Amino acid sequence: MNLSIAIDGPAGAGKSTIAKLVGKKFNLMYINTGYMYRAVTLMALNNNIKYTDKDGLCKLIDSISMHFEHDRIIVNSKDISDRIVMPDISKNVSNYAAILEVREKLVSIQRALSEKYNVIMDGRDIGTVVLKDAKFKFYLTASPEERAKRRYDELIQKDVKVNYDDILSDIKKRDYIDSNREISPLKKAEDAVEIDSSFMSIEDVVNYISKYITDRM
Ligand code: DC
Repeated sequence: MNLSIAIDGPAGAGKSTIAKLVGKKFNLMYINTGYMYRAVTLMALNNNIKYTDKDGLCKLIDSISMHFEHDRIIVNSKDISDRIVMPDISKNVSNYAAILEVREKLVSIQRALSEKYNVIMDGRDIGTVVLKDAKFKFYLTASPEERAKRRYDELIQKDVKVNYDDILSDIKKRDYIDSNREISPLKKAEDAVEIDSSFMSIEDVVNYISKYITDRM
């Protein structure tokens, strides 16, 4: 059986940064499942497909090719990784990610990858649904204010004009939708190790997770 590591948690908790670094340490393929939901959202918006149009969304997902190259997502041969982290996608993605048909299709791609490769996968439902049998599960969190500050700094660094209060309100809104949706809501798996990174550096978290894994391998 392949090695699978699941990292779940709310928006801006540092999942992707941490998963990327841990993945590199243990030579795992890093799968950013948030990117997959974001990619579908971008393609749907570009094609005027509303999140209520389930048939349209299914056809869209079946018609696109999606794969990862290191930490980048390539859709229809184009690297859209920088485009999909922009605020217009962040504002819409929770609505698309709440659709059962979208989740079923993306989850089956995620499981297929985990059957083929040793993976570290981050998202909202990895430890609870996608990789229930993952050998290691972590639930990464931080206060909404700290998470908003991290997202704000990240976007400012990319020269995107943003407002801290808008980001904080978007994060709170997404937390609510992601945690209260009917299908695969964001929640800690019973067997996941919870890490509150509010007062930890990236290096602290990576070291903590790496030691946890090494001690048990
Ligand atoms: O991790 P992120 O902020 O890039 O995720 C974008 C959105 O996708 C998030 O609001 C919830 C959704 N998502 C999800 O529902 N399930 C996942 N496994 C990953 C992300």
